[in-house]
Amino acid sequence: FFTPAQAQTSSLSSCLASHGVSNFSLPASPSYNTLLNFSIRNLRFTLPDVTRPAAVVLPGSPEDLRRAILCARNGSLAIRVRSGGHSYEGLSYTTENHVPFVVIDLMNLNRVRVDSVSASAWAETGATLGELYYAVGRSSRSLAFSGGSCSTIGLGGVVSGGGFGLLSRKFGLAADNVLDAVLIDPNGRILDRSSMGEHVFWAIRGGGGGSWGVVYAWKLRLVPVPTDVTMFIVDRTGPVEYIAGLVHTWQHVGPNLPDEFYLSVYFPTGSSDGNVSISFQGQVLGTKQHTLSVLSQSFPLLGVTESDLSEMSWVESTAKFANIDTISDLLNRRPGTNSYSKSKSDYVKTPILRKHMVEIVRYLSAGPPGSIILDPYGGAMARVRSSDTPFPYRTGILYCIQYNVYWDRSDQAHAGEYIGWLRSLYTYMTRHVSKDPRGAYVNYLDLDLGANNWTHPMGGSSMEAVTHARSSWGAAYFGNNFDRLVRAKTMIDPGNVFNNAQSIPSLY
Ligand code: FDA
Repeated sequence: FFTPAQAQTSSLSSCLASHGVSNFSLPASPSYNTLLNFSIRNLRFTLPDVTRPAAVVLPGSPEDLRRAILCARNGSLAIRVRSGGHSYEGLSYTTENHVPFVVIDLMNLNRVRVDSVSASAWAETGATLGELYYAVGRSSRSLAFSGGSCSTIGLGGVVSGGGFGLLSRKFGLAADNVLDAVLIDPNGRILDRSSMGEHVFWAIRGGGGGSWGVVYAWKLRLVPVPTDVTMFIVDRTGPVEYIAGLVHTWQHVGPNLPDEFYLSVYFPTGSSDGNVSISFQGQVLGTKQHTLSVLSQSFPLLGVTESDLSEMSWVESTAKFANIDTISDLLNRRPGTNSYSKSKSDYVKTPILRKHMVEIVRYLSAGPPGSIILDPYGGAMARVRSSDTPFPYRTGILYCIQYNVYWDRSDQAHAGEYIGWLRSLYTYMTRHVSKDPRGAYVNYLDLDLGANNWTHPMGGSSMEAVTHARSSWGAAYFGNNFDRLVRAKTMIDPGNVFNNAQSIPSLY
């Protein structure tokens, strides 16, 4: 006799096999752990109490992908779609309430076709940013894509949630540069921009992954860049007051530099010897001379000199920022090591006073291992209207803060303490950041903001679920765009087939 779970797995595997989908792995297969763990970036979701999927399916074609969706539904299994697996809360490979589920992993759908004449690219969503950047860089030294900085992020997740990167002050988010898309809906229909309709096309570009169906491919606008760009990483160490002075000044400079400048702050927490270290990371679509002349005028306190600056092609700079050695390493889906982590985010609209910045720097320097990243907005980010895409953080936003704590296996006993510190830091920052609602970036998922509570694989939703979602995480991620997202969800997925802890609920 089969247990109900075994019966579901058996029905899924016969359905897949009978429709010619052969690349999948069940818990008893030798490849199962390797495939499941391959794209788990946050080791918090490898712990024994995390429910594991009934199968990992690796479609090799859009038809395989369509069949995988339909077979999962046929077997009453929830669906989790995974592209690069970078979800901060593991939503692409876990379920809440022990709901049985299948992971559809898109890593084999990673082809990128660049058309340098029309400055566009079709990319399957299992491709990573590194794979896309590599293909764009090979096609032309003067084309680029405006995406994020980590090369192993998947295009499925990053574009669905917005996608802020080093070119965003000049060209907007990744999602602002989507020209068309192919979406497979819950009924297996294959839709493009015109057949999915403008509401759904609006929703999939920033409304977060995992709510709408599976985006099989994006058509992306490529943007013009000089054949050489300038990059730099400037490290500064000193007493709290000095570092606070630098960050305080940066708030006035970073968001107001010319659009071709990106200048962010990376602040490792937990310095213990009295001095604090920080780095300023920059990319400029221009020469070293231009960079020096602008920064010496606008930010003399930073003291950037010519020896800090390097000129290189845009694609080389993406490798440098991703902390990898060569352009061909952009194709490596798994560089570096993973850790256990928890992250949160905020938006700042008014510069923090210098005296408060001193207190904040002191607070951070006493923290556990982690990092605070300040990403400057302004420029093109501020010229897109808040309602043009679901991502609302445009005019009036100075910068985004990302708060992270990390630890490794040997420090697992301190996990609760570290996460507790991060939450107190978040409370401490309340008076300095956006309010009513307090904003957060959907790509920096944070289940502390609240969660849906589906107890059935295709759990239906209701006005109550919508109200709960809006008042907790919905308004934080999407502001006034949340209700339009609910309407788009109700159009494309009224039965709430694509759901997760923070998916957009449908109204029926
Ligand atoms: P993953 O595969 O985990 O998917 C994330 C969500 O999207 C899940 O809900 C998943 O189901 C859904 N999804 C995935 N593919 C889908 C598809 N084809 N169709 C529909 N839904 C799909 N962000 C940023 O904007 N700029 C940055 O520079 C960085 N940098 C960065 C560095 C590191 C180390 C991490 C861990 C994260 C970032 N991020 C980021 C955040 C990142 O953009 C965010 O975590 C993305 O959702 C990751 O996308 P993946 O496809 O890798 O994740």
